[in-house]
Amino acid sequence: MAARGVAEVAAPLIERYRDRLPVSEKTPVVSLGEGSTPLLHAPRLSERLELDLWLKWEASNPTASYKDRGMTVAVSKALEDGARAVVCASTGNTSASAAAYAARAGLQAVVLVAETAARGKLIQARALGARVLAVRGSFDEALTAARKLGERGDHVLVNSLNQNRVEGQKTAVFEIVEELGGPPDAFVLPYGGGGNTTAYAKALSELGLATPIHAIEAADRPRTLASAIQIKEPAHRDRVEASGANVHAVSDEEIVAAWLELAREEGLFCEPSSAAGLAFLRGSDELHGARVVVTITGHGLKDPGAADFHAPAPLVVDPDPDAITRATE
Ligand code: F0G
Repeated sequence: MAARGVAEVAAPLIERYRDRLPVSEKTPVVSLGEGSTPLLHAPRLSERLELDLWLKWEASNPTASYKDRGMTVAVSKALEDGARAVVCASTGNTSASAAAYAARAGLQAVVLVAETAARGKLIQARALGARVLAVRGSFDEALTAARKLGERGDHVLVNSLNQNRVEGQKTAVFEIVEELGGPPDAFVLPYGGGGNTTAYAKALSELGLATPIHAIEAADRPRTLASAIQIKEPAHRDRVEASGANVHAVSDEEIVAAWLELAREEGLFCEPSSAAGLAFLRGSDELHGARVVVTITGHGLKDPGAADFHAPAPLVVDPDPDAITRATE
């Protein structure tokens, strides 16, 4: 017998929120079991920051980032519309997600990855059978190329400029509000291109809520070590501004400190960009005393290079209990 709650948790995101997504009975649902991710209370960090902190652990999606929420809708709709191929430009996570859902749907995926994409994400897209092309240039240039290819008509663009991606990503807010039994006092999430901030704002407007969103960008956008949000010109800047989201910038030092703290204090090993929200909370008392949900967008294994650089290397010891005890003192 299935454990209690398992059947419900495993329901594809499209089935769970069918009435609030642009799908019909004719839409072939392409799912890998996305959504229904844990909302974890963070007791130690709550105490330290003097607020009530909850972490939406989006790394537990099938390809280990929140992108899968949007990709299930975008690829299902592409299949419904008779597409044979999808294309995206990516700092890495969109490409891994597009590769997985395209494989599941039997479509070709062409992914244009920025030179700086983290290794784990590239390996995912390659292993999943996508045609992975490393573009000479930045993410911004790759996105322009992907848009132009999409306009030619043979490839469906599955970046978040595809509205179906935004529609799917808004379900994170539905889950959070259901799980907490009401809205938190604020949502905090990283801001790269702004697709996710746009999606959260849309969800809130559909729910008739005015909960503030804090969108956290890297202070040095073109060069940040948080490669997922290394985007010079956010494609959704106008929509983010129009949404009324509060935009704040954090430095790479603040991101790394928050990233290590999340791992060591709460057991969540995410990629650096995902710690941008916590980095903001650590440096500001604006949300003092509030119930805050921080979205942790992607898994730490996505970027082994960053972890290798910032996490302590193992000590080498003899296989002997005394030597081990000495080394851990
Ligand atoms: N966190 C992670 C782990 C991401 O991969 C991204 C964006 C963001 C946050 C920022 O979200 O762009 O909606 O504001 N990654 C994109 C990609 C750009 O290509 O994978 P955003």
